Amino acid sequence: MPTALITGASLGFGRALATELILEGWAVIANGRRSGLLDELSRDVGQGTLVPVPGDITDPAHRQQILEEVQRLGSLDLLVNNASSLGPSPLPPLRHYPLKELTDVYQTNVVAPLAMFQLVRRCSRTPAASSSTSPPTPPWKPTKAGAVTDHRRQRWTS
Ligand SMILES: NC(=O)c1ccc[n+]([C@@H]2O[C@H](COP(=O)([O-])OP(=O)(O)OC[C@H]3O[C@@H](n4cnc5c(N)ncnc54)[C@H](OP(=O)(O)O)[C@@H]3O)[C@@H](O)[C@H]2O)c1
Repeated sequence: MPTALITGASLGFGRALATELILEGWAVIANGRRSGLLDELSRDVGQGTLVPVPGDITDPAHRQQILEEVQRLGSLDLLVNNASSLGPSPLPPLRHYPLKELTDVYQTNVVAPLAMFQLVRRCSRTPAASSSTSPPTPPWKPTKAGAVTDHRRQRWTS
């Protein structure tokens, strides 16, 4: 069974993608901060393999917890770094942008996705070429949500 990890799977695009992948027979590890929304998603997808892992993706301890779920399922075929923060609305000009909120936006949208990729990259199912001098390189790369359709198109046409 192919396995996907989707961050921010409790709402919007992440939730829709999680639902569709489950219907297609994937196992989905679903992250989001509000556990109630993930429980609701679990109920909606019924018998499918959905593993809710509620928590904040910017928290290193939580990312480690997600890694443990990936390892428990064995391997990973798809990472969707979908959780994001828009920051303050309306968007303030940079000269007035509160630095704490800017830091939070960068943590959520830049640091956490890269950290998640670095953690799970060795769990890729497809064996990768490696040598004694270079670490294994997975065949997939970190992606924001928009690139997923390309990934899936490749799966459908291959
Ligand atoms: N909507 C658009 O028009 C649009 C356009 C272009 C690109 N995008 C991109 O598409 C993706 C999804 O957009 P969307 O509109 O579906 O977003 P959304 O409805 O706001 O959903 C965001 C998801 O991310 C989760 N999330 C946010 N911060 C998190 C954190 N720190 N840790 C864990 N989960 C977190 C939210 O759940 P919790 O709040 O419960 O944590 C929610 O499940 C985003 O990457 C966005 O940048 C969207």
